[in-house]
Amino acid sequence: MHIVFAASECAPWAKTGGLADVVSALPRTLVKLGHKISVFIPYYRQVAKAVPRAPVVLPSVTIPYPSYNRFVRILDGGVTEGVQMYFVDCPEFFDRESFYSTPSGDYPDNAERFGLLSRAVIEASKVLGIPDVFHVHDWQTAMLAVLLRSTYYFDPVLRRVPALLTIHNAGYQGWFPPQTMETLLLPWDMFTFDKLEQNDKVNFLKGGIVYADAVTTVSRTYAEEIKTPEFGSGLEGVLQQRSGDLVGILNGVDYEEWDPAIDPHIAAHYTADDLAGKRECRRDLLHAFGLRDVKDETAVIGVVSRFATQKGFDLIVEVMDRLVQEDMVLVMLGNGEEYYERLLTEMAARYPSKVKVQVKYDNVMAHKVEAGADMFLMPSRYEPCGLNQIYSLKYGTVPVVRATGGLEDTIDEQPDGGGNGFKFWGYSADALMDALHRALTVFRDKEAWTKMMQRGMAQDFAWDKPAQEYLRIYERVIQNRS
Ligand code: ADP
Ligand code: GLC
Repeated sequence: MHIVFAASECAPWAKTGGLADVVSALPRTLVKLGHKISVFIPYYRQVAKAVPRAPVVLPSVTIPYPSYNRFVRILDGGVTEGVQMYFVDCPEFFDRESFYSTPSGDYPDNAERFGLLSRAVIEASKVLGIPDVFHVHDWQTAMLAVLLRSTYYFDPVLRRVPALLTIHNAGYQGWFPPQTMETLLLPWDMFTFDKLEQNDKVNFLKGGIVYADAVTTVSRTYAEEIKTPEFGSGLEGVLQQRSGDLVGILNGVDYEEWDPAIDPHIAAHYTADDLAGKRECRRDLLHAFGLRDVKDETAVIGVVSRFATQKGFDLIVEVMDRLVQEDMVLVMLGNGEEYYERLLTEMAARYPSKVKVQVKYDNVMAHKVEAGADMFLMPSRYEPCGLNQIYSLKYGTVPVVRATGGLEDTIDEQPDGGGNGFKFWGYSADALMDALHRALTVFRDKEAWTKMMQRGMAQDFAWDKPAQEYLRIYERVIQNRS
């Protein structure tokens, strides 16, 4: 089977979060299972820096616009572990400081930028090879599923090619003004509430949900949650309508990248049977965050996250005065919303010997936190899957999470200190503090704690099983269209 992935991120070239990890690892697993995969992402400035002389595959792909045409180039990103990478080169749109926004907000032309990405992938595929199925991800490429069914592509071949949409985060939908219909050459009869329209805006993700042949999301619990108003962010209705074609598939983990036995970024290697290296990693982490004289009995709590409302930082801020009374230190790595960057920096200044924050995106440091912390904190308001808690399990870093989405599906707390972590249900500072108290209590019992670490480390979240589930869906949608 030939599958074309279209996405706005793919590690290691372009990454702000877990989407990039998925778009990198799932294709490599599918290749191992015998399939042909091509992945298209934008040639962002950051990608161009990493791969400055990517060979040109298609020198001029025409993207029609109402008053003029644009031309993009398709560049060869090389073959990595059997996966063919392509970069969509349009400097006017992608040669920018960041992928989606500036500190003052989203780029105003994001509809055109990502509409162009979707269209470029279709146009390029016409030349490079029409796939058996397109797999698109989040609002940024959801439009590809819409374009395939719009009259513009009344193409007998493309009409038979199905598209699968994976929702990694229904909180980001891509809302744009009605005129976007014209900019993207979409017929106005698609601007209705049962199609692309939502609150008098063009909603890219909604369009994808309506027009994709099937929709997946990244955990079973989140697949249920998004059919409710609390999590569907306005799309619950259309998701309920498509519930027969909506499946939750838990993300896997790339253990070539996230395994303390082989991780090149950490101070020492370790396994469930020989945990000595983890002490070394802990020392290294504390040093990297400038924390001195932290006793062995003191719990090191780690956070690696985008600083966004989704991730529950308001709860962390609310419990801070209570948390610092405990025998623990908190190390946080992240960046994102300015509001949280400032607030968390203030917290660290208030409690310099207990709370540290590094405001940046740093993959090596993310690995060091996973390896060096005793606990990993993820009190998310919502979490479609969440990868960090699954990485933490492998690193023997016990997760403390809110029971939502993929966090609910991966973390199991048992009353007797069994299970692989700690979780709380209500979104409140008290519930979070209670869970942390339970974790800190078990932490003082070294034997019980070590067993808990080892249980998590023994779990297997490799991509093979989820990849098989995706294959079954690809096969089904292909069959339904043939
Ligand atoms: P989300 O995609 O919602 O941000 P996930 O848990 O699925 O959450 O994935 C986050 C990914 O991004 C992980 O691979 C994590 O290590 C990485 N990450 C997040 N913030 C940072 C950061 N500041 N520096 C390095 N890696 C980060
Ligand atoms: C999104 C979600 C996260 C998920 C990731 C990869 O960014 O917020 O929960 O793990 O996508 O699917």
